[in-house]
Amino acid sequence: MKNHLKLSNRLSLCAEMITDGCKVADIGTDHAYIPIWLALNSKIKSALACDIRTGPLKNASKNIEKYRFSDVIKTRLSDGLLNITENEVDEIIIAGIGGNIISNILSGCPWASKKDKVFILQPMKYEERLREFLAENGYKIEKEKATICSRKVYTAMKVTYVGTPQKIENYEKYIGKLSEDYSYPAAQAYIRKQIKNLENHLKGAESENLDSAQEYYREVIEKLKNFLV
Ligand SMILES: C[S@@+](CC[C@H](N)C(=O)[O-])C[C@H]1O[C@@H](n2cnc3c(N)ncnc32)[C@H](O)[C@@H]1O
Repeated sequence: MKNHLKLSNRLSLCAEMITDGCKVADIGTDHAYIPIWLALNSKIKSALACDIRTGPLKNASKNIEKYRFSDVIKTRLSDGLLNITENEVDEIIIAGIGGNIISNILSGCPWASKKDKVFILQPMKYEERLREFLAENGYKIEKEKATICSRKVYTAMKVTYVGTPQKIENYEKYIGKLSEDYSYPAAQAYIRKQIKNLENHLKGAESENLDSAQEYYREVIEKLKNFLV
């Protein structure tokens, strides 16, 4: 039996946010590395490794069998959370998927607005749309961390449903809770990446003479620059 699995920095960031001893669902699991790592490190009671496609699920099953965790980790064909019931899981990981799809997964599941559920979200793109969706729909980002993986920078956020829309400033859509702890290298890299993206948007707005968009981007860029050390 293999007793070791090294997760990438991106997947580690997600796995480390899980509370010891809980029941986990990994949505869009593909290789099932996160649940396998959690089981190898005795961090979980059980896991559902879920995917919308059978190909990735076969991949997941093969790896789960290889590590002999078929009793702890079950695979499940599911579009988002639709084929999972509320009592089966405490904490839900959704990693390696776009922020827009993550928002759809949350809004499509009636029990995703239960206050005892914890979501670990790691969007690959459209992070600002996801943070905006979360705030408008009563979800709170409890903590957020950045990491560098294969020369790219990612964030993962620990999110709970609090039931009331959260007021966030425009700049917070771009860096989320990194604003509370921003001086380490990966957080700085993420802030610089967001400034660069906004500068590109600003150029586009300038070339099209969109005054209010220019004003918006300039204001957010200036705010974000305050977090560079
Ligand atoms: C890029 S892989 C990410 C794998 C892994 N979570 C990671 O972060 O490395 C995305 C996976 O999400 C699955 N997926 C996409 N949309 C999904 C949905 N609505 N519900 C469940 N799985 C989905 C895809 O089939 C694919 O296996």
